[in-house]
Amino acid sequence: MSAPILEARSITKRFGGLTANEDVSLVLPAPVGQVISVIGPNGAGKSTFFKMLSGFLRPSSGQVLLHGQDITGMPPHRIARLGLVRTFQETTIFPDLTAMEHVSLAHQLHREASDLEVVLGAPRAKGDEIRLGESAREILELMELSASADVAARHLPQGLLRLLGIAMGLAARPQVLLLDEPYAGLNPEETNRAVAITRKIAASGVSVLLVEHDMKAVMAISDRIHVLYFGRKIAEGTPEEIRNDPKVIEAYLGQEDEELGL
Ligand SMILES: Nc1ncnc2c1ncn2[C@@H]1O[C@H](COP(=O)(O)OP(=O)(O)OP(=O)(O)O)[C@@H](O)[C@H]1O
Ligand SMILES: [Mg+2]
Repeated sequence: MSAPILEARSITKRFGGLTANEDVSLVLPAPVGQVISVIGPNGAGKSTFFKMLSGFLRPSSGQVLLHGQDITGMPPHRIARLGLVRTFQETTIFPDLTAMEHVSLAHQLHREASDLEVVLGAPRAKGDEIRLGESAREILELMELSASADVAARHLPQGLLRLLGIAMGLAARPQVLLLDEPYAGLNPEETNRAVAITRKIAASGVSVLLVEHDMKAVMAISDRIHVLYFGRKIAEGTPEEIRNDPKVIEAYLGQEDEELGL
């Protein structure tokens, strides 16, 4: 068996007296291309967990390993270069730039030429330009955004802006993509489309780690599900196992009925 792509080992995060994550472990198994979800009621610690994986927060204790390399406490841009990316929030969308320009901008992080080579128009910079242009078109196609390539972001509806945020994350060519509530605020039609695209992203060879409250979407899309409750992991399994797990049902009691899709 090959080494896990990503591994969280007994991560704990304390904010003063509050323990947001306690002893949370998760293994993202090889090969790449699975969708693994992290669910749990509001305040369970899901976003905190993602922020520790992607370098936006440092764990109080525990370790994060990416392809066996210890990345605990590394800054987000270094972790992104090693292949783990958290999607851009909508605040990083520029109203006047087109969809294509957004993906190209995100690509700049990954060009091989130095700034000087770009300024001088060196061969390597030209090569980058062509390669990254092709890559950006490919990503827009995967995200079903080709028709919006030349449309300024301010003219794009919410559902497409969300997809554009994910497209920018993909520009980093990650092996692991972290999506925190990517379908929140989308209408059912937009959600269905975004779920289908998430599947395509995974099929293209990217492991997707998903935090999502839309249980119908989670159950439909996940290969495995991990459940957080008051900062602790209380269950892990296939959608079927999670749906029938008494501890999970208990944790969700008192929530809206539809939350677990029961
Ligand atoms: N920077 C912070 N400082 C202090 N407390 C924090 C901080 N970030 C999160 N918390 C607390 O940690 C707990 C877990 O928060 P977190 O945002 O990880 O939950 P969540 O599972 O993502 O919730 P939601 O489903 O509402 O997004 C909450 O009690 C929250 O108030
Ligand atoms: Mg959250």
